[in-house]
Order: sequence, then C-alpha cells, then structure tokens
Amino acid sequence: MTDLHPATFDIAGTFTVNRIGFGAMRLADGDIWAGPSDRAGAVAVLRRAVELGVNLIDTADAYGLGANEELIAEALHPYRDDLVIVTKAGVCRPGPSLEEWIPLGRPEYLRQQAELSLRRLRLDHIDVFMLHRVDPAVPLADQVGALKQLQEEGKIRAIGLSEVDVAQIEEASTIAPIAAVQNLYNLTSRHHEAVVDHCESAGIAFMPFFPIAVGEHAKRDGGPVARVAKEIGATPAQVALAWLLHRSPVVTPIPGTTSVAHLEENVAARDVRLGDAELATLAEGI
Ligand SMILES: NC(=O)c1ccc[n+]([C@@H]2O[C@H](COP(=O)([O-])OP(=O)(O)OC[C@H]3O[C@@H](n4cnc5c(N)ncnc54)[C@H](OP(=O)(O)O)[C@@H]3O)[C@@H](O)[C@H]2O)c1
Repeated sequence: MTDLHPATFDIAGTFTVNRIGFGAMRLADGDIWAGPSDRAGAVAVLRRAVELGVNLIDTADAYGLGANEELIAEALHPYRDDLVIVTKAGVCRPGPSLEEWIPLGRPEYLRQQAELSLRRLRLDHIDVFMLHRVDPAVPLADQVGALKQLQEEGKIRAIGLSEVDVAQIEEASTIAPIAAVQNLYNLTSRHHEAVVDHCESAGIAFMPFFPIAVGEHAKRDGGPVARVAKEIGATPAQVALAWLLHRSPVVTPIPGTTSVAHLEENVAARDVRLGDAELATLAEGI
C-alpha cells in the first residue's frame, strides 16, 4: 500500500530528510547586521532540533548578513552525517530595513556568495544551494547557469529555486536539474497550488516557507484550525504543519522558532494525522 504520509523525502534522490525541517532565519534577523541577541538561546534551539531528528536546516547568506550561517556552524559543526543544510543566494540587503530584500542574480555575485557560504558554514560543499529570488534584470539561464557551474565544480550538490512559478521551474530545468523549490505556502496562502502539484509530479522537494503563517495559525482562536486541534488533541501549529505534510509527500515544511518548547511542538507534528473529517473542516478556510 502507498504510504500517504511518509516520514522522509529524498531530495535529489540522494539526501533523505525527515519531513519537518527547521527554518533558521528568525534566529538572526532582529538586527540584520548583528545576528541574534540571544546567542546561547539560538544555539540551544539548533542543537535541540538536531537531537529531535531534524536533519533539514534552512538558512541563507542574507539572514543576518551571514550571521545566521555562522551561528549554524557554531551550534552544529562538526555536522552529523545525515544533516542537510539548505542555503541561498540572490538577494542583497543594502540597508537595515527588514523590508529591503533586493534580487541580485548576476553570476559572479552568486559564485562569490556560494564561496562565502562555504566558508561561514565550514563546509567543502553545500548540499542544496538555492537561487533566493529570480532577478528580472538577469536572464534566468545565466542565474541557473552559475549554479550549474558550481555544481559541476563540486561546490554544491543540488540546485533549488525560491518564489518561482511553474514556467520558471520548467525553464530552469532545461539548464540544470532542479531538486527543490521554496515558496510561500500554507493553509491560508494557497496561490502556489500549481507549483506544489508540479513538484509532486517532477519529484522536486517543495519547502513551504511561512508554514504556520509566521505564527498566525498558532494564535487564531475559534476557527477551523483551532477546532480541529481541539478535536484531535493537537495544537493549532501542529494542525497547520500536519495539513502541509498531508498535502503532498514532496512537501517538507521548515517552520522557524526561537523557542525550544515551540520547536518540540512543531517537530511532534510529524505524528499528527488528519482524517477526512478534519480535512473537510480545514477546507472551510480559516
Ligand atoms: N525562501 C524565502 O524567500 C523565505 C522567506 C521567508 C522565510 N524563509 C524560511 O522559512 C522559514 C520559516 O518561516 P518563518 O520562520 O518566517 O515563519 P513560520 O515558520 O510560519 O512562523 C514562525 C513564527 O511563528 C512562531 N511560532 C513557531 N512555532 C510556533 C508554535 N508552535 N506556537 C506558536 N507560535 C509559533 C514563531 O515565534 P516564536 O519564536 O515565539 O516561536 C515565529 O514568530 C524561515 O525561518 C526561513 O528559513 C524563506
């Protein structure tokens, strides 16, 4: 019988990850220049994640302008053999505003950022390297071509894309194999349904970012998520994550948190099962 709720997914057919990963962005984003204010707390969250079996960690050169990658190395290096680190390049942050994320996909810049990520993460290759945003000012073939060259040189293993549509995935796939896609997707942000379906049919990992709507799904009382949570003895955040796991076996959510208690709750969502009645309630919207 097909397992509709597999515990793991093989990224690029090679990297087996448990399907609840960890998004590290919030551990170093309060102040993009300085990194986390509670460094010991951030290290503790990362170490506890790995202890709980999380082996998919998401970061980017832009998070804390490199501080996030340095933090991951400080907490987890030397890395466990099965740990898969996803990092990204392709946006720059020229000012302190949390809103200022500017696509920059020039090939020479992507190559430079990959070298810096390797250094900060203390790696000799990056398992999954993503184009953080498609830069409209640079041909997609040049941006993906830069990643392909890094792959051919052995500096990165698998290539990913972020915030892309199906046409962009198809175009990029003509240049290099695309192993992972990271788009905004959760119970209430569903405009990437076609991308999830495409990833499922192409065997591409789909890593929804903002999987619990930046905490909103955990907070809202009285709606369908809260109702389902109460009925099955789970928390609303767990229901939101379980819904993503149920959506497709290629979905690997990367919830973020600065709290060990929330982390433990989120990881435990891998054991939450939703039946037809719960899915029908969630389909009402929240
Ligand atoms: N590719 C991209 O362009 C892109 C864009 C954005 C994010 N990302 C990645 O996606 C990851 C996930 O996104 P995110 O962290 O922004 O959003 P998220 O996972 O949807 O939500 C995180 C927020 O929810 C709260 N939270 C987490 N677990 C909770 C729980 N069990 N109960 C109550 N509140 C809870 C956290 O606060 P506490 O700290 O208090 O728990 C935090 O404020 C990021 O860390 C990053 O790695 C990628």
